[in-house]
Amino acid sequence: KKVVLAYSGGLDTSVILRWLQNTYNCEVVTFTADLGQGEELEPARKKAEMFGIKQIFIEDLRETFVKDFVFPMFRANALYEGQYLLGTSIARPLIAQRQIEIAEMVGADAVAHGATGKGNDQVRFELGYYALNPNIRVIAPWREWDLTSRTKLIEYAETNQIPITKDKRGEAPFSVDANLLHSSSEGKLLEDPAIGPDEIVYQRTISPEAAPDVATEISIDFLHGDAVGLNGEALSPATILTRLNEYGKANGIGRLDLVENRFVGMKSRGVYETPGGTILLAAHRGIESITLDREAGHLKDSIMPRYAELIYNGFWFSPERRMLQALIDTSQASVTGRVMLKLYKGNVIVTGRESPHSLYNTRMVTFEDDAGAYNQQDAAGFIKLNALRLRLGASIGRRGGAL
Ligand code: ARG
Ligand code: SIN
Repeated sequence: KKVVLAYSGGLDTSVILRWLQNTYNCEVVTFTADLGQGEELEPARKKAEMFGIKQIFIEDLRETFVKDFVFPMFRANALYEGQYLLGTSIARPLIAQRQIEIAEMVGADAVAHGATGKGNDQVRFELGYYALNPNIRVIAPWREWDLTSRTKLIEYAETNQIPITKDKRGEAPFSVDANLLHSSSEGKLLEDPAIGPDEIVYQRTISPEAAPDVATEISIDFLHGDAVGLNGEALSPATILTRLNEYGKANGIGRLDLVENRFVGMKSRGVYETPGGTILLAAHRGIESITLDREAGHLKDSIMPRYAELIYNGFWFSPERRMLQALIDTSQASVTGRVMLKLYKGNVIVTGRESPHSLYNTRMVTFEDDAGAYNQQDAAGFIKLNALRLRLGASIGRRGGAL
C-alpha cells in the first residue's frame, strides 16, 4: 500500500516512480540522499511534487556516510580484488538503512530501488533491507517490468509526461554512480575492456599529465585510525574527505580502470575515480606503519580481503562483518599521529610520519653504535633454530625446500 523509493530525480528513477504508481496503485514516498554525489537535490523535490508525492524525504547524509561507513572501512585499508576502494559498495548499506527507517516512520510496507537485476547493487540494497526488517516487501522494477531497452524506457517516459533532458534522449554514453568517496562509470562506451576509456569518462580528476609540475605537500592527522585533521586544522569527516578530493583532483590522483568479478557471477569493467580515498589509504598505511605492532598489523591485513569481499557482496549488516570490524577497531587504539605527504602527477608519496605512540626506535634500528640496545649475538641462535627444519630436510636430500 505504501512504498519508500530511493529516488535520485533522474530519468530512470522517475520512470520507476510513475511505474510504481501505475502498476501497484500505491502511495510512493521518495527518499533522496545527499551522499556527496555533487548534484542539486531540490530538483528532485520539484519532480516528486510533480508526480503528486506527499511525503518527500531529502537528507544530507554526508557526515554520517563518512563517519560511520567510509572511515570504519578505511581502518581496514579495504580493497576488493587488490584495487577497488569500494566507493559504491559502502554507500548502499546507508541508503538501505535510511529507507527502512523512513518506511517505519511513515508506515510503509515496501521499499524500492533502481538497481538492475544483473549487478551487485540489488544484492547490497536488499540484503540491507532484510537484515534491518525481515518482513519488508522489496520491489525491484528492473527485474519486473518489460522496459527492457532504452527506447522502451523513453517511450514510457513520454506517454507518462515524464520530462526527459536532451542528453538522456540520446543514448547516455555510460552509467555513473557517484558519492563523496568516488565516481564509478560502467557500461556502454566502456564495455570492451581492451579499449581504454576516453578522457570524458573522468569527471572528478584531471589527468596526471595535466597535473602541476610542482608537488603539493599536505599533512593528515589521525586519531584511533580516523583522519581528524588536515594541515594541522581539525575538521569533520566529510570536510576532510571533501578537501582531500580537491587535492586529489588537482593532482590527477585516484584513477582506476578495472575488470572485477561481480557477486552475481560475471566480470565487469569499471572506471573509478577515488581521489581523496586514494590519499587517505596511503596516509593511513603510513600512520599504521609506525604505530601498529607487527603481528597485529599482519593479522588485520590477513582478514582484509575477506572484509572487503563482505562489503562488496553486500554483507555490511551481518554478524561476520561486525566481528571483523571489532577486530579492526581494536587494532586502531594507538593509530594516532601525523602523516606528511607529497601529491605529484597521480602519485601519493608518504614523506614523513610521527606519533606519540610510535614503535619505531631509532636506537634499536640504527646502523651506528646502538649503545647496547640490541645484542647482535642473539640473532645467531634465532637464525639457527629457524634453520633447523630446513637443514634436516636438506640433510636427507630435500634441498632448497624440495618436498
Ligand atoms: N562495480 C561497482 C560496484 O559494484 C560500481 C557499481 C555501480 N556503478 C555504476 N556505474 N552504475 O561496487
Ligand atoms: C546496476 O546493475 O544497477 C549497477 C551495477 C551493479 O550493481 O553492479
